[in-house]
Amino acid sequence: MFYQLIYVSRAVAPLSAEAMQSLVTQARNFNSIHHITGVLFYDGEHFAQILEGAEAEVENLFARIQADTRHRQVTVVTRSRRPRREYPHWGMAGHLLASAQFAELVKCLPDEPEQFAPRSLRVRLEPFVAHSPRL
Ligand SMILES: Cc1cc2nc3c(=O)[nH]c(=O)nc-3n(C[C@H](O)[C@H](O)[C@H](O)COP(=O)(O)O)c2cc1C
Repeated sequence: MFYQLIYVSRAVAPLSAEAMQSLVTQARNFNSIHHITGVLFYDGEHFAQILEGAEAEVENLFARIQADTRHRQVTVVTRSRRPRREYPHWGMAGHLLASAQFAELVKCLPDEPEQFAPRSLRVRLEPFVAHSPRL
């Protein structure tokens, strides 16, 4: 069983393209060492992130992310156990969304872990991944 944590947060100040790039690069390095996969969405004001891996690794990383002063109002959407990863090949994909896209994305996130069959979240989020620039 894998563990999946989804949260949303609000940037304290807009991050430049360079700052976002370095955040994602650093995240990829750390996550690959700790076998954490997932995706990070950013619209210039808000973040939404899906973190997947072993429970202890994910919670340990999330504690560091929560303490990060670049964002606030870090709100967990769901914590769930899943039979497999939704993003097995992505150390941490980063996608830049328009504000309207981000608002739509948030509507697609689950309220409860049971609401989504495995992989269906990925299917629902696929359009946001496909139609946004990669970081
Ligand atoms: C929105 C957001 C998402 C982040 N995602 C990750 C991540 O997936 N992996 C990671 O190693 N760091 C991520 N970070 C950076 C961590 O919060 C933290 O800066 C980094 O792990 C270094 O931690 P340390 O200062 O305790 O060494 C993220 C930061 C923010 C603001």
